[in-house]
Amino acid sequence: MYYRLFLLAAVLPSCFGESSVDDAAEMVLAFAGGAVLLPCNFSLPASGDFPTLEWSKQGLHPNVVFLYRDACEVHEEKHPAFWYRTSLIAKELKNGNFSLRIANVRLSDAGTYRCKRLWSDGPRDVTAVELVVGTSSHVYSSGDEKPSSEK
Ligand SMILES: *[C@@H]1O[C@H](CO)[C@@H](O)[C@H](O)[C@H]1NC(C)=O
Ligand SMILES: *[C@@H]1O[C@H](CO)[C@@H](O)[C@H](O)[C@H]1NC(C)=O
Repeated sequence: MYYRLFLLAAVLPSCFGESSVDDAAEMVLAFAGGAVLLPCNFSLPASGDFPTLEWSKQGLHPNVVFLYRDACEVHEEKHPAFWYRTSLIAKELKNGNFSLRIANVRLSDAGTYRCKRLWSDGPRDVTAVELVVGTSSHVYSSGDEKPSSEK
């Protein structure tokens, strides 16, 4: 049953070819219950203004999974399914690295995410990332233990 869900989740995003950014979508694999980092980096506003940036998920309503405005997270607009699960990496922000961490990944998280920069002195660039979520009995039964063979 999980196997079928996984296949469905992996295939669905390609049904919505709404925009050309999909061509460039980077694929990231995560496992249910784990954490994952979706990459996104932009050069910071030349004006020195605080950047505003939106991470969204295609097909979700509302589609916001993380909103960062004037250097603060805006919780109110985040979809409840992602409450307490998405974050940016504070120490990376000054480098223009807005990669999104998703904790406690669910099968339903699979899909296409967009990282959109919303500052005015640059193009409204979008980075697309496709998240594939897997789960398997193999991972659960043998993946918990770290290899401890090194002497
Ligand atoms: C993001 O970082 C990568 C690796 O450092 C770099 O190749 C790429 O040009 C950067 N993208 C932007 C938009 O700054
Ligand atoms: C962004 O930050 C993450 C977490 O520290 C790091 O793994 C990744 O390499 C960084 N990406 C870039 C383009 O610097």
